Amino acid sequence: MTLFHFKPQWQIVNQIAAATTDFRYDPMFFHADYEFVMSNVEAGSETQRLAEALFAVTDGKGVLDTRVHMLKPGWCPAIGGWHCDEVFRSGGQDSQPELGMPRRGDMATGYFGICPTLFDNEERDLDILDVPTPIWGRVSAAMERTRGSPTILMPGQIAHFDSGDLHTASQSSGAGWRVWGRVIAGIPEMPAFNEIRRQVQAYVDLSAGW
Ligand SMILES: [Fe+2]
Repeated sequence: MTLFHFKPQWQIVNQIAAATTDFRYDPMFFHADYEFVMSNVEAGSETQRLAEALFAVTDGKGVLDTRVHMLKPGWCPAIGGWHCDEVFRSGGQDSQPELGMPRRGDMATGYFGICPTLFDNEERDLDILDVPTPIWGRVSAAMERTRGSPTILMPGQIAHFDSGDLHTASQSSGAGWRVWGRVIAGIPEMPAFNEIRRQVQAYVDLSAGW
């Protein structure tokens, strides 16, 4: 038995108005700093409003990722399952996260449209089975064996969190569009790539034809 302790410290720190205009054609950013985002996003667009709210949490520091998704029922806009962001991986991005390391990061996330992010509310010791599969899959399986009432983030709500806060994307319950953003600050080795991305993926069950 391997127990890992998780204690939620995340908070909803702002609520901005939900989207009222089309964001389907907004650019998507990858590890983009404030200056790059603001010089490449349309003034008054939904992505600009979201970016301003997220960078406000970190005093303009850090880098922004955004994604625009078209979703159908059952599709997921991120790799599914409970996890924490930016847990230290000593072997690089493709190595496994090392649970039990000190909390780090100063992060903010929010979205407009459909398909909420969920944040866990329970302080808990999860029994991570000692099997040779990826850590977050084991964490997610352990979460399925426990009880809890996660908070469902509403469109326009801005959550401030760090690498100790368990959260998950959800499977879309309907058909529609979503723009999601997250600023990551406080991670010394996090580079600013200042990229605009023109591709995005959704994660689907093999039976999810439409
Ligand atoms: Fe995440």
